[in-house]
Amino acid sequence: MQSSAEIRQSFLDFFKSKGHEIVPSSPLVPGNDPTLLFTNAGMVQFKDVFLGAEKRSYTRAVSSQRCVRAGGKHNDLDQVGYTARHHTFFEMLGNFSFGDYFKHDAIVYAWELLTEVWKLPKERLLVTIYHTDDEAFDIWHKVVGLPPERIIRIGDNKGAPYASDNFWQMADTGPCGPCTEIFYDHGAHIPGGPPGSPDEDGDRFIEIWNNVFMQFDRAADGTLTPLPAPCVDTGMGLERVSAVLQHVHSNYEIDLFQHLIKAAAALTGTADLENKSLRVIADHIRACAFLIVDGVLPSNEGRGYVLRRIIRRALRHGYMLGRKQPFFHQMVGPLIDMMGQAYPELAAKREFVEGALRKEEERFAETLENGMKLLESALKDDTSHAGGASKTVPGQIAFTLYDTYGFPVDLTADVAREHGWSVDMPGFEAEMEQQRERGRKGSQFENKASLSAEAIQQLPPTQFLGHGAPLYAADDLKLVGIVRGARLVDELGDGEEATLVLDRTPFYAESGGQVGDTGVLSTGYGRFLVRDTIKLAGTFHGHVGRWEGKTLRLGEALHGEIDAARRQATVLNHSATHLMHAALRQVLGTHVTQKGSLVAPDRLRFDFSHFQPVGADELRQIEDLVNAEIRRNAAADVRNMAYKDALDFGAMALFGEKYGEHVRVMKFGEFSTELCGGTHVGRTGDIGLFKILGESGVASGVRRIEAVTGAGALAFVREEERRLDEVAELLGSSAGDAADKLRQLFERQKRLERELESFKAKAAGAATAQLAETAVDLGGIRLVVARLDGLDAKGLREGVDQIKARLPDSIVLLAAGADGKVSLAAGVQGAALGKVKAGDLVGFVARQIGGKGGGRPDMAQGGGEDSPQLPRVLDEVRGWVEQQLA
Ligand code: ALA
Repeated sequence: MQSSAEIRQSFLDFFKSKGHEIVPSSPLVPGNDPTLLFTNAGMVQFKDVFLGAEKRSYTRAVSSQRCVRAGGKHNDLDQVGYTARHHTFFEMLGNFSFGDYFKHDAIVYAWELLTEVWKLPKERLLVTIYHTDDEAFDIWHKVVGLPPERIIRIGDNKGAPYASDNFWQMADTGPCGPCTEIFYDHGAHIPGGPPGSPDEDGDRFIEIWNNVFMQFDRAADGTLTPLPAPCVDTGMGLERVSAVLQHVHSNYEIDLFQHLIKAAAALTGTADLENKSLRVIADHIRACAFLIVDGVLPSNEGRGYVLRRIIRRALRHGYMLGRKQPFFHQMVGPLIDMMGQAYPELAAKREFVEGALRKEEERFAETLENGMKLLESALKDDTSHAGGASKTVPGQIAFTLYDTYGFPVDLTADVAREHGWSVDMPGFEAEMEQQRERGRKGSQFENKASLSAEAIQQLPPTQFLGHGAPLYAADDLKLVGIVRGARLVDELGDGEEATLVLDRTPFYAESGGQVGDTGVLSTGYGRFLVRDTIKLAGTFHGHVGRWEGKTLRLGEALHGEIDAARRQATVLNHSATHLMHAALRQVLGTHVTQKGSLVAPDRLRFDFSHFQPVGADELRQIEDLVNAEIRRNAAADVRNMAYKDALDFGAMALFGEKYGEHVRVMKFGEFSTELCGGTHVGRTGDIGLFKILGESGVASGVRRIEAVTGAGALAFVREEERRLDEVAELLGSSAGDAADKLRQLFERQKRLERELESFKAKAAGAATAQLAETAVDLGGIRLVVARLDGLDAKGLREGVDQIKARLPDSIVLLAAGADGKVSLAAGVQGAALGKVKAGDLVGFVARQIGGKGGGRPDMAQGGGEDSPQLPRVLDEVRGWVEQQLA
């Protein structure tokens, strides 16, 4: 019995003996092809060769290509584990002809390999063909000798001829064509009918090989353009054909899978090798390991999310087998045993693959168990539905599983399906949409936690201690509220998350653009790590974080300590924001009003109304004004007063900001007076240095400036200095001379470019001289048609002139391509004049490559796309000219 590795090799060897080049598998992530999520067939790496856009040194190729069909046009993920032969990952054996042999040889080769080399019984094989493909019918019938009843025509589906099974296309666009599929009959003891019959989905007749006769390029609008030459693309699943040759029925019974299934059984302590979960794990390790080898890592979007879904699906099946600790990465070794020789890249990256899988396993292990409990209890409860028996997991639970427990929704659906349930997908989508909506709002206006009206009544307003002299710690802060969700609770256990409200606090709560403080609240028996402080209901400071220690109860007195360095850096940026606001109004005008502001420890960001970009000079003036105020070192003057008095006092109130009856006015010298509840420097000199990083537009009429202060400004200056030094070092000069040195280099480059141009022109002259030699003689008139890349339109015209100079009675057409476009030039002279018009000739070519052209009877120019059709069109010029001359 042949192993799957031997079968792979004998396929490659057979086609090698028929003059095919053995080409290694390309990666699963297609290079530079946005139409595909993953490589899903052997032909993917040859797409451009089929289209005529790329030439290879061979016209016949054979490969064993790794493929993933999960996500995208060909998606089998949902079937894996439930059928005998669907996989997320599989190997596709294929032979290819690029304008070399076509239907006849493809079919004859296939038959020879199957029946003579692999010795499959002929009477077990039958085929389908595209319903109008009489040529394929004749080859199967007359050449191969297959009786007509075993040649089944497929694909007559009412006016949509190209949407059928026997017409293959790689994606919504790209090469495609009719195909013939070869089926193996596993025997009458297995239920199922032949292809095209009502029972075709049974397991008796299994497609083992698809031979596609590539003939067209499909555009996004559905139009089909013929390829430059008919091609062949075939695909045979190694796993399926191994099952046939190893006389087993299911793919999972072949040697390769049996090895993986045994490894999974050992890792999960499972005795029953028929267990479906083992198959899923064996299948999924292949997709996951190869995706990681090919550069994909688990993430929340695109290819990374497909990988994450496959890994988590495998882990869930491990969990079903009772395995709660990481194990999946240990499947990489057994996989290398089976596939490492054919794919050396797998063995080479072993540690990396294991590490990436392990990390994802550890991540999911934290929530898998609790998520499964939630889901299992939902699967017992069908009382929540009207009618009682709908057996649908509510969208809201699917969403919680997704959002809190990291269950991809198809994983939830998978579990549900095992119980004969489904998931309320519209409900899930609605929850997702609501979350996106909350995200949009939350990022603009809202606090992260909210309080019910009842809770608000119960709490005393928080007294903020940080508005006088700097204060970074305080004792005896009474815990008056523990908020979880929107509710108040009485106690908090070890490891629990909550938002705490105190009677007094040194923690600044995010507002007016200034970020909330972080730090620690502690008692003798535990500590609360504050990762943010937010305003709740506009009045309370909510300390957001996590408790570590014995149970914390309401009424406890806490010691609070904020991250002082972080606050100090934030304060510099806040005071600098006020100075900059004032400077903007001086330099740009009083139409400048604040539209948004972020004051963080590492930078400040200020959005304001202004209708054009702020120029470099203006930015410098603003920077100068602010730094002058910093050096003036004015003391901060803070006053509390009634709102209307503050306006009389000259304070700037911010549009759209809500102020209470009493307000705080922040004044720096005579320069800036603003209403503000934030924390600030004692004297402007504390800011040290103010440096603008950049200016940009954020919306129509709104500009944004970002800037740094203090140590951040120094770090910025240093970084600029380092970059300049790096440039100087590359140039081999001092920082001071770098600009001169660069200027010299640019001049030199321009000179070299000019020289290169003149060499190119000379080389083209020589090439045209050679072309004149190759002219075809059409009854005394000489025709030259050629493609000469590297020439621009002018060079092309000169080329035509040069050829004309050598051939008195002639017709010349030259084409040159660059960047996907083609330029054309034509010339006609002597006896040819009056018979052929240069303009018509250019028009004949240009029209067929999506372009146009025109000119005088003796000289014309035009252009179009660098289409795969071009070689054919150039070939047809001779026939066209002969017609004109006739
Ligand atoms: N590209 C063809 C297929 O995938 C052979 O079926």
